[in-house]
Amino acid sequence: MEWQNKLTSLLGIPYPFVQAPMLGITTPAMVAAVSNGGGLGSLPVGGLAPERVAALIQEVKALTSKPFAVNLFTYEIPPAGQPDTFEPMQRFLQQLYTASDLTVPLVDYDAIKIYSYKDQLPVLLSAGVSLVSFTFGIPDADSIAQLKARGCLLLGTATSVEEAVALETAGCDAAVAQGIEAGGHRGTFLPGALPQIGTMALVPQITDRISLPVIAAGGIADGRTAAAAFCLGASAVQCGSVLLRSPESAATPRHKAKVGAVTDMGTRLTRAFSGRWARGIGNTLMDAVEASGLPLNVYPLQDALTQAVRKVAKELDDPAFIVMYAGQAAQMARELPAAEIMEEIRKATEKILDTGGTQG
Ligand SMILES: Cc1cc2nc3c(=O)[nH]c(=O)nc-3n(C[C@H](O)[C@H](O)[C@H](O)COP(=O)(O)O)c2cc1C
Repeated sequence: MEWQNKLTSLLGIPYPFVQAPMLGITTPAMVAAVSNGGGLGSLPVGGLAPERVAALIQEVKALTSKPFAVNLFTYEIPPAGQPDTFEPMQRFLQQLYTASDLTVPLVDYDAIKIYSYKDQLPVLLSAGVSLVSFTFGIPDADSIAQLKARGCLLLGTATSVEEAVALETAGCDAAVAQGIEAGGHRGTFLPGALPQIGTMALVPQITDRISLPVIAAGGIADGRTAAAAFCLGASAVQCGSVLLRSPESAATPRHKAKVGAVTDMGTRLTRAFSGRWARGIGNTLMDAVEASGLPLNVYPLQDALTQAVRKVAKELDDPAFIVMYAGQAAQMARELPAAEIMEEIRKATEKILDTGGTQG
């Protein structure tokens, strides 16, 4: 099976299999394991302090000399000033914690630190990062010019054909086509209704419309789903949820067990955790915020509010109050090392594609 294509040559990798960036889950060990295995590891740093970003990049570099991408959240920072929605949500959450016997510190609005990708950019440039992926938007023209001047390749995320066209117009080098099946946040950035197009429908419509290589994401968890994506015209596949139970995943033991027990119907889209649409496994925190009927805070303020309990619950390994972002195919997550999972998917894909589309 010949895996080399325009995208693998651009990225400098042997196999077009990308480990999805998953903030809160992906560790430097996961990134390095996948890159060392010939795929592309992706280090998520969305919203992290620049010092932390620098440290994480160094950790990955200490574990691999192979290419890896650094993943940014490219959204507009909300205007300064505490919105009217902040305190009512904070009060509601505190009542919920008390009723659940949890002690959670209050979130001080003035102490919330919001880091833009623009704050992180100098770190990426000085660390010599050569692949930058992003979600929630497109970096501004000045940032794109700085990245391009250093020879950086840009991988944007699109959840509709229109967004893919916008990525191409802005000068990106590849587009991640993220279907509605995908776990985690929707990468949606154009105004209007939330795109709810599945990977199967989205990938061919995007490949027909733009000339950039397309990376399919959402529901890809084995040879069958990966082979389907390549048949649809994808140049690479990006796998997220299938890695949630790997030893390199930062998910806690009970979180991993929840993923292991999830069904096809066990995830849903919610804005409860962060204020942005994301797919995850339902739990007490999600249900209660949704049922409260309270207006949510814009991203990332809602995220900052729920972070407080998520931190406490993570330490207690209490899945009722953490975030369990996962996709519709999360049931297919394997309890194997990340590199093994990616290798198994690749080999199964090879077998299917080499035998003309049957599983042999
Ligand atoms: C736990 C979790 C966290 C995620 N965090 C990010 C992130 O930080 N940046 C990003 O671009 N995408 C993020 N995503 C989306 C993935 O990159 C990818 O699009 C998705 O996992 C693909 O669908 P799948 O989960 O069905 O494999 C996240 C997904 C999950 C499951």
